[in-house]
Amino acid sequence: MLTPSQQAEARHLAQVYAQLPIEADRAEGVYLYSGGRRIIDFYGGHAVASLGYGHPDLLAALADQARSMYFQSNAVALQVRAQAADDLVAFAGGRLPRVFFVNSGAEANENALKIACRVTGRSKIVALEQGFHGRTAAAAAVTWGSQAWYGFPRQPFDVEFIPRDDAAAAARAIDGSTAAVIFEPVQGVGGAYDLAPDFVAALAAAARKSGALVIADEVQSGVGRSGQPFAVDLYGLVPDMLTTAKALGGGFPCSALLLSEALAAQLKPGELGTTFGGGPIACALVSTVLRVIGRDGLLANVRTLSAGLRERAVTGPVESVQGQGFLLGLRCRRPAKDVQAELLARDILVGTSSDPKVVRLLPPLTLAREHVDALVAALADLD
Ligand SMILES: Cc1ncc(COP(=O)(O)O)c(C=O)c1O
Repeated sequence: MLTPSQQAEARHLAQVYAQLPIEADRAEGVYLYSGGRRIIDFYGGHAVASLGYGHPDLLAALADQARSMYFQSNAVALQVRAQAADDLVAFAGGRLPRVFFVNSGAEANENALKIACRVTGRSKIVALEQGFHGRTAAAAAVTWGSQAWYGFPRQPFDVEFIPRDDAAAAARAIDGSTAAVIFEPVQGVGGAYDLAPDFVAALAAAARKSGALVIADEVQSGVGRSGQPFAVDLYGLVPDMLTTAKALGGGFPCSALLLSEALAAQLKPGELGTTFGGGPIACALVSTVLRVIGRDGLLANVRTLSAGLRERAVTGPVESVQGQGFLLGLRCRRPAKDVQAELLARDILVGTSSDPKVVRLLPPLTLAREHVDALVAALADLD
């Protein structure tokens, strides 16, 4: 049965989403509210609500920036944009010192893939099975299973998919025709699956050996979600390019491509561009998200609560836990969809993934111990 909002949307919106059977009139902190109901949100609007909902620092930054300058394009240099780039580079440890701001995860990946092909003059991209990189032409071409919905008459480059954690396959696939390898260090849609460190090292080594570039897609795993600034930090890897989005603006649409100096030096004016990317509101919010993560010790919060969750979540239908930080997959003995519905009936919202047995958790980095306790108690209550 459709909810009242679903019925309203059905009037004119393209019906392309499978939706959750809940109403949400309001959101605050880590909670969604509907009438008298309060739901703990372990899904965070697809990993976007990094600071939860209605965070006072974000609201203040939004209002201040909107009043002083609502929008301006990249044709005019802005202090707020320079500051956001400075903050993001510093947050990422300074090892990828150039930033190109865009608007969505797919757009960041599209640009990374374009740069890889352009700079290397090569035409093959190696990607991972179960990987998800977006729905635009190039991003979808490297997304596992996209044949089912790709739609374009041809792909922009050759793509070879390799099984995750198969180092021998990586060594075979990455060759002199490979422009880049693109992968999520912790696969999101694929089931909050953290790649084996040995595999990531082998992937990077094979790329370096054949002159291919390494693109880390941290659209979902980035900006503190792994318990580190970026998940590549868990692997001791410095990629040539890193894309990030979702949590970056705390809910305001924005994304970024971080680049090595060597790659950025090969870009000329006019080769990349965007109207909305790097807009002043987005930039003010990027700086705010990063500042609050540092000020409030949110990386440590993620690490501590994630460790507790890992220990305690193997209960009820859950047989094991995978992933990192606040990108966790609860592998269940029975369909994740059923577990999701049963948790929702107990006012806890979780996600699913392309793995039918994995429930995905992507809560705000501001989650507290009491919310973990509530999830563990609800899981223990299920078969
Ligand atoms: C790892 C990853 N890359 C790219 C994307 C695409 O991002 P967007 O929907 O903002 O285009 C997603 C979205 O889920 C993602 O999880």
